[in-house]
Amino acid sequence: MGLLLRHLLLKCLLFLNLPYFLTQCVSSVQRTCLYSERSALLRLKGSFILDRSASDYSKADSWKLDGWIGRDCCSWDGVECDDNTGHVIGLDLSSSFLYGSIDSNSTLFQLHHLRRLNLFDNDFNGSEIPSAIGKLSELSQLNLSYSAFSGQFPYEVLQLSKLVMLDLSSNAYLSAELPESIGNLKSLSHLDLSFSSISGQIPNSLANLTELTYLSLAFNDFTPSTLSWLAKLSKLTVLNVASTNSYGDVLSSLKNLTRLTEVQLSRNQFSSQIPSWLGNLTWLTTLELGVNQFWGPVPESIFTLIKLESLGLWDNLLTGTYKLESFLNLKNLKQLQLSGNKFSLVTTTVMNVTVPKLTILTLASCNLFEFPNFLSGQNELALLDLSGNKIHGVIPKWMWGLSAQTLEVLSLRENFLTGFHQPGIVPPWTNLRVLDLRSNKLRGSLPIPPASIYQYLVSNNLLKGEISSMICNLPSISILDISNNSFSGMLPPCLGNLSKSLSVLNLQSNNFRGPIPQTCEKRSQLRMIDLSQNQLNGEIPRSLVNCNMLELLNLGNNQIEDTFPSWLGRLQQLKVLVLRHNGFHGAIGKPKSNEFPKLRIFDLSFNKFEGVLPSRHFQRWTAMKVVDLGKLNYLQTSVRFQAQITSWDLKFQYSMTMTKAGVVTKYDKIQDILVAMDLSSNRFEGGIPEDVQILKAVQFLNLSNNLLSGSIPSSMANLTQLEALDLSQNLLSGEIPQELVQLTFLGFFNVSGNQLKGPIPQGKQFGTFENNSFEGNPGLCGKPLSEKCYPEGTSASLSQRDEGGDSWFEFGWKAIMLGFGSGVVNGLVLGYHFNPMKHKWFVKYFGRKLQNRRWGRRN
Ligand SMILES: *[C@@H]1O[C@H](CO)[C@@H](O)[C@H](O)[C@H]1NC(C)=O
Ligand SMILES: *[C@@H]1O[C@H](CO)[C@@H](O)[C@H](O)[C@H]1NC(C)=O
Ligand SMILES: *[C@@H]1O[C@H](CO)[C@@H](O)[C@H](O)[C@H]1NC(C)=O
Ligand SMILES: *[C@@H]1O[C@H](CO)[C@@H](O)[C@H](O)[C@H]1NC(C)=O
Ligand SMILES: *[C@@H]1O[C@H](CO)[C@@H](O)[C@H](O)[C@H]1NC(C)=O
Ligand SMILES: *[C@@H]1O[C@H](CO)[C@@H](O)[C@H](O)[C@H]1NC(C)=O
Ligand SMILES: *[C@@H]1O[C@H](CO)[C@@H](O)[C@H](O)[C@H]1NC(C)=O
Ligand SMILES: *[C@@H]1O[C@H](CO)[C@@H](O)[C@H](O)[C@H]1NC(C)=O
Ligand SMILES: *[C@@H]1O[C@H](CO)[C@@H](O)[C@H](O)[C@H]1NC(C)=O
Ligand SMILES: *[C@@H]1O[C@H](CO)[C@@H](O)[C@H](O)[C@H]1NC(C)=O
Ligand SMILES: *[C@@H]1O[C@H](CO)[C@@H](O)[C@H](O)[C@H]1NC(C)=O
Repeated sequence: MGLLLRHLLLKCLLFLNLPYFLTQCVSSVQRTCLYSERSALLRLKGSFILDRSASDYSKADSWKLDGWIGRDCCSWDGVECDDNTGHVIGLDLSSSFLYGSIDSNSTLFQLHHLRRLNLFDNDFNGSEIPSAIGKLSELSQLNLSYSAFSGQFPYEVLQLSKLVMLDLSSNAYLSAELPESIGNLKSLSHLDLSFSSISGQIPNSLANLTELTYLSLAFNDFTPSTLSWLAKLSKLTVLNVASTNSYGDVLSSLKNLTRLTEVQLSRNQFSSQIPSWLGNLTWLTTLELGVNQFWGPVPESIFTLIKLESLGLWDNLLTGTYKLESFLNLKNLKQLQLSGNKFSLVTTTVMNVTVPKLTILTLASCNLFEFPNFLSGQNELALLDLSGNKIHGVIPKWMWGLSAQTLEVLSLRENFLTGFHQPGIVPPWTNLRVLDLRSNKLRGSLPIPPASIYQYLVSNNLLKGEISSMICNLPSISILDISNNSFSGMLPPCLGNLSKSLSVLNLQSNNFRGPIPQTCEKRSQLRMIDLSQNQLNGEIPRSLVNCNMLELLNLGNNQIEDTFPSWLGRLQQLKVLVLRHNGFHGAIGKPKSNEFPKLRIFDLSFNKFEGVLPSRHFQRWTAMKVVDLGKLNYLQTSVRFQAQITSWDLKFQYSMTMTKAGVVTKYDKIQDILVAMDLSSNRFEGGIPEDVQILKAVQFLNLSNNLLSGSIPSSMANLTQLEALDLSQNLLSGEIPQELVQLTFLGFFNVSGNQLKGPIPQGKQFGTFENNSFEGNPGLCGKPLSEKCYPEGTSASLSQRDEGGDSWFEFGWKAIMLGFGSGVVNGLVLGYHFNPMKHKWFVKYFGRKLQNRRWGRRN
């Protein structure tokens, strides 16, 4: 005990009977801390780096022995002492820039009298919450949120039986589970475990925490459950279980929870009707049911929840027809999200009600036929989504500039809009970040968005004319997609100036002509450039080599005349290179360095390349050599940003066009495990190198329509991932290697139009190929051709012919596509809308195999 304190206590004792001195004595003690605790605090401070810039203030800055006052740690910022004993009972080091590890030896745990501890928003460098936390048995409030703790869930915390408030949210305990003993914290009224990667069961013992008024378990990886224990927590006012893998009829558990003000249930698999008694929860200000399977009608009683500020019913299965007015009668509403249900909204043309001022309004796929005219009075909107409706005609003048100061995101995608009231005029939105006008019938010239724009999407319209160089005055634009319109003229040379901000440039399917401008400046952010299906000519600008983030380059279907751009091989991130249908020519030559290490999709088809196949390059294409068992992902760019009101993580998925079994096919998504090489329709000559077997991950290989000679190397049997192999229309001779029957995923095989001879391999996948896979080879024999190789009766029997009874010979690669939809067989693509074919044999044989395979990839 400090000398000073002893001195003061003495004084107190001496003058105990005199009220004046007593008062003075108490206030003196209050200002003075215990020596041992002061030194514990100083050592605590010393154990961290204060990781901040000069202008940042940390509470710990005031923790120093600085003059008479400084010696009293009770006067330090964030330190609270007990009036009577002088013990440190409260410590608030929130947002104090502390950086460093913490363990049980920390002097923090010598402060046994702590009742309140707040370490929110520091960086404890992935430390586990030290078990010594259990020593602070007086704690009633513990806030460790957002402080870079990780590791095991701290069981010792659950021994702190006096806890009233516990906030462990926004840390990464990386597969920690929540123990049943959490039910022992009977005094708890505030529990926040959100955003913490907690897995395992949600313990039923939570039912025993009957004092809880605030509970958030949102965004964790729990085992699916029904949360029926909620019914016991009758004092709850705030409930957040968004994204907790929960299911069932959660609403019935909320019947008795009449004090609820905020209910956040979104992103689960809850499914039930919405009961009309929900209208009894009259204190509700937030009701978020989005992304679940709630079904049936929206009960009228919802429209009586007059305190509601936020109502989210989006992405459910709700049915019926409702007046938009009914929702707008909720006068306190700020956020209304109704998108993606099965209901219709009717708008009345005259709406003379006092409508609430909304900030977020999403009415996608609500069967709207016109812009709801109440919008004209809305001047505080940040997000407006009217996509997927049936709105026809010209965008009215009052819409174009709506909520001019506040609007951040506007989507009018997938309607029948034909144009703008004032075409070409930059709309007056000063904070607009995302403008999505895709898939309408917009005509006229390209409207230039305001300078604040990040993402501008106008693909699939009928816009035309030249691109004004005003497009280059968009300093923050990250995604520009104007594909599939009728734009013409030369590309503005200033496009290169956008490359510092631009990630995605999609100009595909227009009528642009002339040379490709210098597209990339140094420090380019570009990840995806698609200029395909235009009439661009000239050479590939060498400045593309500055695009060192580039993942996809598609220059297909233009009139580019150049030699093979091996210098693009320096782009270490390049995964997709498509040069099809141009005037490329010459031999591919030898690799110079480590070229194209990540290349997975390589399409040179329909050019005039000549010389031998680039087998020397095969060695360098690392990504094609390794079978990727990783997670299924799509090639995409994500753009994150925080606008004033909304925050976004927008994903832009790359798309691509490729020939599949002769059909030019558009893939709306590209799986990043896909490996494909199309060198067809060129003038490659010489043999197919044995080395081709190095490209172990190749799923799709098209060498058709070249001048290739020699025999088919048996080493191709080592390309175990092959799903389509097209060697047709060449000069290949010799026999088809019998080893190829080992290719169990082969669904398409074509060697027609060569000079092959001898027996066609039999059995397994070869049983599924038709005549046309082999025709035009005068020397081939055996099934499915009618030419027999051996006298009748001696040939090897076809093993699976009888199974299922049907003739499954007609089931080639296409059938596999049919049966397993997108994605599985060759991992290509979504965007296919085939009816699944149910063929018993097929499902039995392939289903199992493909499931295994998919499983393998997932793990
Ligand atoms: C942070 O953690 C890393 C890895 O455990 C360690 O190497 C480093 O020294 C730690 N930094 C501090 C300041 O404790
Ligand atoms: C705490 O300190 C003791 C003695 O200095 C040491 O043996 C022990 O490893 C330390 N514990 C941790 C968790 O660092
Ligand atoms: C934790 O501390 C931060 C900063 O003081 C505060 O914003 C947050 O609300 C606290 N958590 C609880 C549950 O009080
Ligand atoms: C709730 O507490 C009671 C009494 O302490 C105990 O018997 C019961 O098992 C607990 N319930 C759960 C689900 O943990
Ligand atoms: C709801 O409260 C009533 C009356 O207090 C009680 O009888 C009923 O059991 C409670 N229901 C649930 C599900 O707890
Ligand atoms: C809802 O409120 C009405 C009227 O106050 C009452 O009759 C009804 O029983 C309540 N329903 C529930 C489930 O509490
Ligand atoms: C609409 O409301 C305003 C004032 O609230 C009133 O002056 C006007 O007459 C109303 N119009 C109609 C058509 O009811
Ligand atoms: C191009 O846009 C039109 C609408 O203008 C649409 O019908 C068509 O499907 C789009 N084409 C592709 C390949 O997306
Ligand atoms: C790029 O911007 C700079 C200055 O902002 C300008 O001088 C230059 O001409 C622009 N480049 C092109 C190709 O427009
Ligand atoms: C291979 O390419 C040719 C054109 O070069 C095309 O006709 C054929 O369909 C392609 N094969 C496959 C399996 O897509
Ligand atoms: C497949 O590769 C292995 C090892 O590289 C080799 O021994 C084998 O001969 C190859 N198979 C064929 C059919 O070439």
